[in-house]
Amino acid sequence: MTEKDTELRVSKIRDGTVIDHVSAGEALHVLAILGIDGSGGESVSVGMNVPSETMGHKDIVKVEGREMSEAELDVLSLIAPDATVNIVRDYEVAEKTQIEPPEQVTGLLTCPNRHCITNAGEPVATRFDVIDDGVRCAYCETIVREDITDHLAV
Ligand code: CTP
Ligand code: ZN
Repeated sequence: MTEKDTELRVSKIRDGTVIDHVSAGEALHVLAILGIDGSGGESVSVGMNVPSETMGHKDIVKVEGREMSEAELDVLSLIAPDATVNIVRDYEVAEKTQIEPPEQVTGLLTCPNRHCITNAGEPVATRFDVIDDGVRCAYCETIVREDITDHLAV
């Protein structure tokens, strides 16, 4: 079976976003980042461990009626660095973006260090530098490597 054939398991969408080439096992984190838990009413299709010619296996997430903000793409890049974001309009891929990690993410993650200035009730937005294997708080230098999505501020 070819990649195209297997992808037909997850049907095409009319309008919305297809996040393709997500590392196998990360699809549910992608949904968490998008804040999608089903309560919003949008149609969501998730393919997990779908065979992929280039990746072996991959996950794929399709969300109808929803396009993504720059900020969401920034966090997404941390857990799905190889993802392709396709904006679909009237069944056609209208825009295709290869995700790229930003140098910094501001206001999206919380610092796990409770003594950090960003946790002191001051009006200070969190800021993390993106490093090779995670993110580092720009204020207290605490490094978060795993389960970055547990630290989402949203
Ligand atoms: N897709 C979809 N609904 C549509 C159009 C596309 O769900 N109406 C999905 C396809 O199934 C695919 C992704 O969006 O997973 C990208 O579509 P397309 O660019 O046509 O596929 P490829 O050329 O294989 O993409 P790439 O080159 O990025 O691998
Ligand atoms: Zn900190």
